[in-house]
Amino acid sequence: MIVTIDGVAASGKSSVAARVARELGVPFVSSGLLYRGVARLCLREHVNPDDEDALLDLVRRCPLDLRPREQGNEIWCGHQDLTGELHTHEVDETVSHVAKHPRLRDWVNEQLRHVQGSFVVEGRDMGTAVFPQANAKFYLTASPRVRAQRRVQERDEDIGEVEAALRLRDEKDAAQSAPARDAVLIDTSNLSLDDVVANVLRAVRA
Ligand code: DC
Repeated sequence: MIVTIDGVAASGKSSVAARVARELGVPFVSSGLLYRGVARLCLREHVNPDDEDALLDLVRRCPLDLRPREQGNEIWCGHQDLTGELHTHEVDETVSHVAKHPRLRDWVNEQLRHVQGSFVVEGRDMGTAVFPQANAKFYLTASPRVRAQRRVQERDEDIGEVEAALRLRDEKDAAQSAPARDAVLIDTSNLSLDDVVANVLRAVRA
């Protein structure tokens, strides 16, 4: 069984996907972390994130390993755990450059298609490009203000700046982020995490 949870940045996809996976007793997979891992490597190796050939060469030289864990996913590069370095401001800035390249997206999607068995996967295009055969698909949205409020609770940042950055990311992500025609749309602006998880589980079980 595959459940896809796509949606806009900071709409709660990761938290929802992790909780739903736990309730269903299956692993949870975060596709955004692979893009973030490539962005992290780019910054470390001083590779231009707008140069697709250089990015493909980078992932060939430093293959990334996505390890689904109950507490969250880990990204390893050889013996190095990059997980703690994936949510910095610098990575946020770089990752949308990385994610716009079609061949790099193919590489990420290939890694994801190697995941075996049942799982819940979150991202932007899981229900469309990567797992069109998924058993249940969801697409989460929330207003930019609510998303900014949620993000400043996680990081000590200015809400106005966070909201402006989120709007910009929405524009950049728009090319690859659209609900599948058979996805259930959930606006989480006025819903708690528990409410969203309950809605998703109800739909999956139905
Ligand atoms: O979900 P996130 O914020 O961790 O995603 C990081 C970036 O990767 C974001 O700019 C969108 C992009 N992304 C994507 O293009 N496709 C995915 N399936 C997942 C993430």
